[in-house]
Amino acid sequence: MHRRGFLAAGLATVLASPRALAQMKMDDMPGMGAHAGHDMAVPPQSAVVLPEGETLRDLPLLANEAATSGLFKAKLTAEPAKARFAEGLDTPILAYNGTSPGPLIEVVEGSRVEITFANRIPDEASTIHWHGMPVPADQDGNPMDPVATDTERTYSFELPEGSAGSYWYHPHPHGKTAEQVYRGLAGAFVVKPKVDPIPLEYGDTVLVFTDLRLAADGTMPDSTTVDLMNGRVGDHVLVNGQKNPALAVPVGAKRRFRLYNATNARFLRLSFDDAPMTIIGTDGGLLEAPVAADDILLSPAERLELIVSFDKPGPTTLYTLDYDRGWMGAGRPADAGLTLFTVNVSETPAEAIPPLPDRLRPIAQLGAPAVNRRFVFTETMAMNANGMEMGFLINGAAFDMGRIDVVSKAGEVELWEIANKADMDHPFHVHGTQFQVVEHERDGQVSKSAYLAWKDTVNVARGETVRLLLRQDRPGLRMYHCHILEHEQLGMMGIVDVQA
Ligand code: C2O
Ligand code: CU
Ligand code: CU
Repeated sequence: MHRRGFLAAGLATVLASPRALAQMKMDDMPGMGAHAGHDMAVPPQSAVVLPEGETLRDLPLLANEAATSGLFKAKLTAEPAKARFAEGLDTPILAYNGTSPGPLIEVVEGSRVEITFANRIPDEASTIHWHGMPVPADQDGNPMDPVATDTERTYSFELPEGSAGSYWYHPHPHGKTAEQVYRGLAGAFVVKPKVDPIPLEYGDTVLVFTDLRLAADGTMPDSTTVDLMNGRVGDHVLVNGQKNPALAVPVGAKRRFRLYNATNARFLRLSFDDAPMTIIGTDGGLLEAPVAADDILLSPAERLELIVSFDKPGPTTLYTLDYDRGWMGAGRPADAGLTLFTVNVSETPAEAIPPLPDRLRPIAQLGAPAVNRRFVFTETMAMNANGMEMGFLINGAAFDMGRIDVVSKAGEVELWEIANKADMDHPFHVHGTQFQVVEHERDGQVSKSAYLAWKDTVNVARGETVRLLLRQDRPGLRMYHCHILEHEQLGMMGIVDVQA
């Protein structure tokens, strides 16, 4: 049904920017080729078995080389490496400092950060983008500021008071972001508050979800046209690089988890069986007050902070529920029933566990907007001499690095309305700031956000309109885009020029 609409609407459309489109062959298109129904570019199902149930490993911490307090200084090198996901198979990956996910960066708010990035990826430019963080535009790893292969650059920025939150870092070079991320380049960047309202006894565990596709020989296959259309979804969702790792806790324990969706395109609707979840934070830090949740949806690039209470002895699992994000063509992956993580709750009771406070921190409302803007997502297809072309557009245009799409003023509150007129969900992300989602609208039904929160990525479901308030405080060029990285690469991105 959705596919028909997509093709019918798309075929009538003439595309403006062919260089931003994927070149596709007719035979690769679902329902269009001579062998429709079986000869399609469906992601191969991997026969490779990954070990499960190993102890969850802590992500390696990026060491601070600075001697002065208030300064965090380190080096991140991106280079080819080998990973061992399955017994006897070496997988060539890209890694930061030899590991994937990259090292965990932990910095206290109020600090200055100086991170030197060395790009040792053969023949490819890269950058490091500080996803969600309040960094100056020229330090934010935009595609306009590539770091050429075998060169270095230092990113420096201050992390203001009040910026504590669950951010991350990943490459953002023009035309190569999707590939560099699925090959292994992404890491968590936690900005810690000076005073943390969450009891220390809960711990603070980062869980980075990535999505791996392995061929029988252990390599990562190249992306297919189905991957370009839907975003690349793998065969194994990993947590900190491991499949279904295990953690042991005493009965009665409460644990703080920071969940990161660092996949290219996997929507994760999650729940713990038999262990109540409470949301305490979003992309940009803590909520005002805890909110109980039965299940959560983490779209690509989103983060959530949870407190989970382990009140019954025995194993409990973090598993996936079904979520229909609008899949194009054949090969829709099985989203439901994946076990991502196991917690083994022992009979030994936990030591006295302090309660979760009722109030976490105040969040100031952004207030009345001075400007209203509207962004419309569409998907298009057109035929030309080379076959089928596919485009992912914002306000009818594909990304152009030489074009400014929006001019705004630093310090001014704006209302952004994101309308998804396409057949797939598109998680919307803006660089350089955190926003507040006001409401979602679908078929004339408006639902207000249940709580005030700082976000930098919000899923805009197909047919939905999302309204959000945002303010950019620092001048410069900022990207906004769909965070299905293949869609970003195929044009669903724009530039806002924030003027002083
Ligand atoms: Cu995660 Cu343009 O970013
Ligand atoms: Cu970003
Ligand atoms: Cu998208």
